[in-house]
Amino acid sequence: MTRTTDSSHQTAADRARSAFLDRFGESPACVASAPGRVNLIGEHVDYTEGLVLPFAIDPRAAIAIGIGADDRSVFVADDLGVSVEYPGAPITAPDPTPDHRFANHLLGVLHAAGGTGGQPLNVLVTSDIPIGAGLSSSAAVEVALAAAVASFFDRPADHHTLARQAQAAEHEFVGTPCGIMDMLVSAAGIEGKALRIDCRDLHLTPVKMPSAEEAVVLIVDSGVTHRLSDGGYADRRDSCERVQAVLSGSLRDASIESIADADLTERDRRRATHVVQENARVDDAVAALEAGDLHRLGEILLDGHRSLRDLFEVSIPELDCIVDTAADLRGDGCFGARMTGGGFGGSAILLVSSPAIEHVRQTIERRFADAYGRIPTSMMVHACQGVRLES
Ligand code: GLA
Repeated sequence: MTRTTDSSHQTAADRARSAFLDRFGESPACVASAPGRVNLIGEHVDYTEGLVLPFAIDPRAAIAIGIGADDRSVFVADDLGVSVEYPGAPITAPDPTPDHRFANHLLGVLHAAGGTGGQPLNVLVTSDIPIGAGLSSSAAVEVALAAAVASFFDRPADHHTLARQAQAAEHEFVGTPCGIMDMLVSAAGIEGKALRIDCRDLHLTPVKMPSAEEAVVLIVDSGVTHRLSDGGYADRRDSCERVQAVLSGSLRDASIESIADADLTERDRRRATHVVQENARVDDAVAALEAGDLHRLGEILLDGHRSLRDLFEVSIPELDCIVDTAADLRGDGCFGARMTGGGFGGSAILLVSSPAIEHVRQTIERRFADAYGRIPTSMMVHACQGVRLES
């Protein structure tokens, strides 16, 4: 983790620092920030020891912390305008109050990180990452807090430790049975690189992204808010676990033949087929990136989308509309596209040649508006550094 100072514009970290001062009357003891992410390819395979290829993106979440005064802990979500207070140190179990949902992300990290040693703690959160857009806004908050706490209490702060603490918070306090992809790339992201993560041993391999002259990644938000705790995600995970029980082994080691022969429901077979083919697509995508073959990469993205739509069944019509339009623009500046993240809403990513970006964006907006009566928000992103302490 490196320390940086960014004074060029009001970053999430700047806002966290000044909002903390306003709220608590003193400067924070520590500020950390962590980015959102998109996944280029490798969807719904991280929880079966598969391969993924995400990168950290420009928007960041920031956390400012300091010792609580008057023997109470206060958590503030500045952008949401909400706060929660606890007498003494932060509680060590999930907060059951419905309005306190956001606090469970923080409580979960503090718990997984070994607590505060009984000290009251003030925590203030700000973020540039849109919530519900499938860009891992929660993972970014959790990773930033894990880093701030590690620094403040002088505890281990390697990327894997921070990611595991964030994942434990999701599993044990938020109730989302997510994989580790989002938090690991938010922790370990590298400027200009995607990360091939082998979710079996969590080995990370940086893979160079195209330069801005070659291609840019455009994120288009379907505007349909997804929540991984809503059930569809856990249902897909259950399917994969049933298949692994029948195969007596990890889906990572399965083949199309072993799935075709196994005693499975047709739905579970389709989902398992997606997983096996998706793992292969990740290494195909790495090879395409290394060869600078963006046309091939675009085809892989489109194949991945079809598989998520037809086999894994996690896309929605709004995302299909964006991706179908992108596919129609192949040969007209768009290399390919797919939904990214868990699905059921959220965003699509498009790989676009730089000169075509405005044409592609406007065509997507027009087609989407014709179908859904509103213009989707979009942003260009590039591969960014992961978590950092902000001096
Ligand atoms: C969400 C989860 C990840 C991963 C993706 C699907 O983003 O948090 O762990 O499973 O969905 O690839």
